[in-house]
Amino acid sequence: MLRVVVCVSGGGTNLQAVIDGVESGAIHNTQIVRVISNNKNAYALERAAEHKIDAVCVSPRDYAERADFNAALLEAVKEAEPDLIVLAGFLVAIPPAMIAAYPKKIINIHPSLIPSFCGVGYYGLKVHEAALARGVKYTGATVHYVDEGTDTGPIILQKPVEVLPGDTPKILQQRVMEQAEWVILPEAIDMIATEKRSK
Ligand code: GRF
Repeated sequence: MLRVVVCVSGGGTNLQAVIDGVESGAIHNTQIVRVISNNKNAYALERAAEHKIDAVCVSPRDYAERADFNAALLEAVKEAEPDLIVLAGFLVAIPPAMIAAYPKKIINIHPSLIPSFCGVGYYGLKVHEAALARGVKYTGATVHYVDEGTDTGPIILQKPVEVLPGDTPKILQQRVMEQAEWVILPEAIDMIATEKRSK
């Protein structure tokens, strides 16, 4: 059984896609053992509760020093004894100690075809604003391993999505989520779970 911790900051639609994949059996041999949010108001926490998944909030606001928040975050992850950590719209810079503790065991979903529109400053709607400003005809999403850089780790899966006339950043964001993110994030977890079982 692949033990997965999912880290979230917001609405949690990617978390929902993973929950649905586990419950439908599309993601094999996998259990979501904990959801961690840095934001106590994240709707993702309610999604976890609805599915009886252990959910905790570790907020930087509760710590005077960033180092103390980083330590608490790592502790919340470690307690759950994960085989895989999934960053599903997690807007926190992953502390170096966490990356060192879980090499090739942290994956992230990014809403563009890396190496386009990625790196420092490219998150949320900014990614789609940049894609529209550049006039690309296709964008998409990427699931990649997390290393010390920003969006620089090995790519696991990508899926292109067409940009259409009249797209706004919000419309494009929604299409990229529906057609790419919610598809390849569960797929990538299933690939990792299946590899683990065959070892
Ligand atoms: C997604 O666009 C994801 O790629 C980005 O943040 C958004 C998260 O959405 N990093 P949700 O919280 O999963 O609904």
